[in-house]
Amino acid sequence: MATRTTARRARARKPRGPKSRDRHWLYQESVQSPEVHFGFFERAYRERTGRRPLSLKEDFCGTALLAARWVEGRRDRTAIGVDLDAPTLRWAHKHNIAPLSEHARARITLRRGNVMHVVKPKVDIVVALNFSYNIFHSRAALRAYFEAARRSLTPGGVFIVDMFGGWDSQRPMTERTRHRGFTYLWELHHYDPVANFGQFYIHFKFRDGGGIRRAFSYAWRTWSIPEVREILLEAGFKDLDLYWEGFDTRTGLGNSVFRKVTRAKNSPGWIAFFVASA
Ligand SMILES: C[S@@+](CC[C@H](N)C(=O)[O-])C[C@H]1O[C@@H](n2cnc3c(N)ncnc32)[C@H](O)[C@@H]1O
Repeated sequence: MATRTTARRARARKPRGPKSRDRHWLYQESVQSPEVHFGFFERAYRERTGRRPLSLKEDFCGTALLAARWVEGRRDRTAIGVDLDAPTLRWAHKHNIAPLSEHARARITLRRGNVMHVVKPKVDIVVALNFSYNIFHSRAALRAYFEAARRSLTPGGVFIVDMFGGWDSQRPMTERTRHRGFTYLWELHHYDPVANFGQFYIHFKFRDGGGIRRAFSYAWRTWSIPEVREILLEAGFKDLDLYWEGFDTRTGLGNSVFRKVTRAKNSPGWIAFFVASA
């Protein structure tokens, strides 16, 4: 018969699952930390305009966590989130917008639409994060999107996109990151160098068993830095700067500190931001 002590020990040894098994919640926990980026966005905008940015459009907003945190952060900020997917936007409303204060809620709008077409109202900053523009597989489509982003900006407004690369993004591999109660898996399933096409998946594994296989799927053309630079210029952007993420020697991971570069050392995986002015 189990005594109270052994029962307690058994409970303590039992692996704990995640706080929620919802794929959007798991995604946010795994890949998003909006506040980490706000200092960078504000600095980039202020350096170029001498002003503090107030309005932000989050293209490909998904659950709009970033837009929600933006309006929550200061009382004079406004945000627009744009995404094609109605169920994802409903999730965003329920989990990220509804909990905001009434005053913050009044300063955020979610629009169901194509980022190619939503260009009003004009904003100080447009961001397209987590590499979402890789859904555009032709140069013409990517240029049309960048042109739409430029048309969305107030004079001197700033467009910020992130990029990833390194040799791990060209070979089948699965990267695992442990979080409380679950593991996040980022898989490059196959890569075709002729088209620079990669099929990527996100999976989640729960510490107490089970998980969600192929919770998210991305069929991406992986654009190179020179290509993105050229297409931004073709779309009418100016003053392009590339910011490279530093490396934490203790953890062996990126340290979320981004510095302007004109050259960089290749690595298994790197992250960078392009900042461009309208
Ligand atoms: C990789 S998720 C990005 C989520 C979020 N931006 C982030 O940083 O984690 C890509 C999102 O883009 C949306 N999407 C794809 N094509 C789109 C388009 N043409 N216009 C608007 N949204 C689009 C998808 O519905 C999906 O929610």
